[in-house]
Formats: sequence, C-alpha cells, structure tokens
Amino acid sequence: MDKTLAIIKPDATKKRIIGKIIERIEAEGFTIARMKLVHLTKDEAKGFYIVHKEKGFYDSLTEFMSSGPVVIMVLEAENAVRLWRDAMGATDPALAKPGTIRHAHGFSIERNATHGSDARETAEWEIDYFFKK
Ligand code: CMP
Repeated sequence: MDKTLAIIKPDATKKRIIGKIIERIEAEGFTIARMKLVHLTKDEAKGFYIVHKEKGFYDSLTEFMSSGPVVIMVLEAENAVRLWRDAMGATDPALAKPGTIRHAHGFSIERNATHGSDARETAEWEIDYFFKK
C-alpha cells in the first residue's frame, strides 16, 4: 500500500480542529498507520524542511512549525500522496478549491493547516525522518 506523511500544523492544533482533520482523513479512506503529537524544536523543523533552506521563508516557516504542537501521521491508501494532496488543496489557501482542507481551514501560505509529502520518494524520506525505529 502507498504511504504519505501528513502533518496537522500548529495553526490547526491551536484552533482545536485536529478531530475535524482526522475525520476528513478517515472519510477519504486512509488508514492511519502511525500517529504522534509532538512539539518540534526549531532544529527538528529545520531538518524536516531542509530542502527549503535557501528560501526566504525558511526561518519563518521553521519558527512557526516549532511554535506549538503538531500531529504527525503516516497515511496509507492507493495513491496516498496524490489523494492527500488533493484533499488538502493548493499550498496557498487563497488558491485552494472549495471543499479542500486548506480552503476551509488555512489562513496563509505558511499557516496552511496541513502538510503532505509531494512525491513517493519524499514520503519515504519524510516518514523515516519522524518514524525511523
Ligand atoms: P508544506 O506543504 O508544509 O511544505 C513547505 C511549506 O513551505 C508549505 O507547506 C508552506 O507552508 C511553506 N511555503 C511555501 N511557499 C511559501 C512562501 N512563498 N511563503 C511562506 N511559506 C511558504
């Protein structure tokens, strides 16, 4: 079965919509294979988003991602990466279609409620980053 990594970001945990987002995940047909609630350190957030280290938003993004608890999950389904990205909608909530999670719950491109891996290889790397035994 295909896997992807999902994160419920600090803006969403602060708004107390963890349950709503998990309900949506289950309604989409995913199996939640792993799940943990953690408060990342800034270094852990920086390591996770290392591919963006040259970007202007890297410091702000990693500061935000370590500003409060996040829920990190491994989701399983056929075409898990695509299915989860479709459910989330566009990265920028302003561009996300009605019916998507980011349209309903995102506030800005940074505070966009959820994260999802962008490809199968990325998913493997991201799952290892948080769940390596
Ligand atoms: P995410 O799916 O977590 O992957 C990388 C994140 O970087 C993305 O969601 C956004 O929250 C953030 N991001 C991408 N582009 C920008 C941008 N132009 N400004 C601020 N944050 C961004």
